[in-house]
Amino acid sequence: MKDLDIRHMSFDEYDEARNPRPEVQDFDRVVERALSRRGFLRGVLAFGSAATAMGLSPLMNSGSARAQTAATTRFAFKPIPIATDYEVHVPEGYSWQPVAKWGQPLFSDVAEFNPETGTTATAQERAFGENTDGMELFNIAGRQVICVNHEYANLDINLPGRPEGQPQSAEDVLLLQNAQGVSVFEIAEGASGWQVVTDSPLNRRITHLTPMQFTGPAVGHDLLKTANDPDGSTVLGTLNNCGSGRTPWGTYLTCEENFNGYFGHSAALPADGESEDQIKAKAEAVAATLPAAFARYGIGVDSVYMYHAFDARFDLAANVNEPNRFGYIVEIDPANPQVMPKKHSALGRFKHENAACTLARDGRVIVYMGDDERGEFLYKWVSRDAYVPGGDTSTLLVEGVLYAATFADDQTGVWMPLTPETTGMTAAEIAIHTRMAASKVGATTMDRPEWVAVNPVAIEAYCALTNNSRRGVKPNAGGDETPVGGPNPRAENNYGQIVRWYPAGDDHAAPDFAWDLFVMAGNPSVHKDAYAGSTNINEGNMFNSPDGMMFDANGMLWIQTDGDDSNEGDFAGQGNNQMLVGDPVTGRIERFLTGPKDSEITGFTVSSDRRTIFVGIQHPGGSWPEASGLPRSAVIAIRRDDGAVIA
Ligand code: FEO
Ligand code: CA
Ligand code: CA
Repeated sequence: MKDLDIRHMSFDEYDEARNPRPEVQDFDRVVERALSRRGFLRGVLAFGSAATAMGLSPLMNSGSARAQTAATTRFAFKPIPIATDYEVHVPEGYSWQPVAKWGQPLFSDVAEFNPETGTTATAQERAFGENTDGMELFNIAGRQVICVNHEYANLDINLPGRPEGQPQSAEDVLLLQNAQGVSVFEIAEGASGWQVVTDSPLNRRITHLTPMQFTGPAVGHDLLKTANDPDGSTVLGTLNNCGSGRTPWGTYLTCEENFNGYFGHSAALPADGESEDQIKAKAEAVAATLPAAFARYGIGVDSVYMYHAFDARFDLAANVNEPNRFGYIVEIDPANPQVMPKKHSALGRFKHENAACTLARDGRVIVYMGDDERGEFLYKWVSRDAYVPGGDTSTLLVEGVLYAATFADDQTGVWMPLTPETTGMTAAEIAIHTRMAASKVGATTMDRPEWVAVNPVAIEAYCALTNNSRRGVKPNAGGDETPVGGPNPRAENNYGQIVRWYPAGDDHAAPDFAWDLFVMAGNPSVHKDAYAGSTNINEGNMFNSPDGMMFDANGMLWIQTDGDDSNEGDFAGQGNNQMLVGDPVTGRIERFLTGPKDSEITGFTVSSDRRTIFVGIQHPGGSWPEASGLPRSAVIAIRRDDGAVIA
């Protein structure tokens, strides 16, 4: 939509504006239902009010016992207050520095970034991309190699001065395509801190044009075939790379989230002299010709990126199957730049946030994944074969079963297998239209599942349910209701919560689990009801919209936010987006970092010696981190001034 400015709008809001869901419930009724659930809320909160002390459930008892065994604090920093400025703040005794900034060359023969005009398509193809997101650091034969996602583009910043802030040429589109994807590069720590090792043989850019190979049940299906790829087996590029993951065998997983936003239909492009009404009528007529399945994934006739006006691959008039080739998990081998990335269709097609890997008791590979859209689902992959260190890993993300989660109000849950028997769909259809498969098994509609994190020191996993202003108000795009309850206990949920589950038998492969809420974000200075949050939230640590989430080796949970940073109204006193640390044992949460105004904090990884943490600052405002000129998303390194281990 031409009049939507995606820089100031999340993709979720953008989708909602493009494809508004029908109103199905009267808001008053929803609120009434939410309020009647307050008793229930007290039951599901591990750290909520009197519930823990009273031992209201087996989970509460176990939480209590764990809390009692926590002898000393595990917070090695003095928590910081909120901020509303255009700076990064970290606790006393810690320092930060930028390591890689948008447009920074990864090779010495690349033109330097221009603070006023940015970069060019040619330079961008071999320079650090825009909108840093998920990342993982690998120790490859002693080299520190970092893989970093570049989620989307900021048109007004990446293409400064273009009329209406839109790409004007194929060259502009190529610049955007090269500014996204993934950067892989070596870093090293020297006298002046962490630096990119330019020209390292492991440095590599993966863009919207990089060839990759499909694996799994979708390979060769008609929905994957295009004129350029009549076999349905290879594809150019990976789109909207959001969160990340790492496999036990040392490869990087990048997750395709809002891929739908890159496609448009040339027949719906406005023509000279057309009125607004004519343009709208034309767009609606063209939209009616699109495949029915597109609606569930939010694929429409217009796109702010305008790729479709200059690159026929993204024009639905020419390539209606191209969108079916995005929305997957992509595996990249950082140690072998010549190896083609693999798109693993068996792990499903949806708006993938991240991919949290762990192992079952018998060594099978588990991958937990969230689908970040209001009322979509939480998924789990269980491989057929066990991981054997040094053994063949080629089947581990190809052969297995994908499950979708159902949560019951009694704090139990079941993983429902998505198979031809349970869904009536073929394996290829399940891989391509995964959302529809999960709807068929009655998966629980969630409050926008963002990152999943697996605790390395306890058999439990967490998912950040960032917010859902339509909870209880509208169904998801497939018509599934979004009732208030279970791990989604508040209507019009603008604050978000983190759900935690405990696999049965302490085995992540188990089909069932118990669950509770680790935290319910809220604002106790504005609200006195459920919107105040759980009791581990107070005026000193409050935040909204948990999103990025990673465990460190000590079993501490680093929580990053991507929420409302207006510091007003419901969000008064919460300041800029931030990073906090949570202790799963006690429920205590403290603020470690605040970001520059307008930014979100996303992406977290740790150096091999655990003395540096790397954090991503996405879409900063002002001119951060420069004194003037264009703002630049960046990965920063944070160290303790005494050089001690951080994470
Ligand atoms: Fe890319 Fe859902 O965050
Ligand atoms: Ca996110
Ligand atoms: Ca988010």
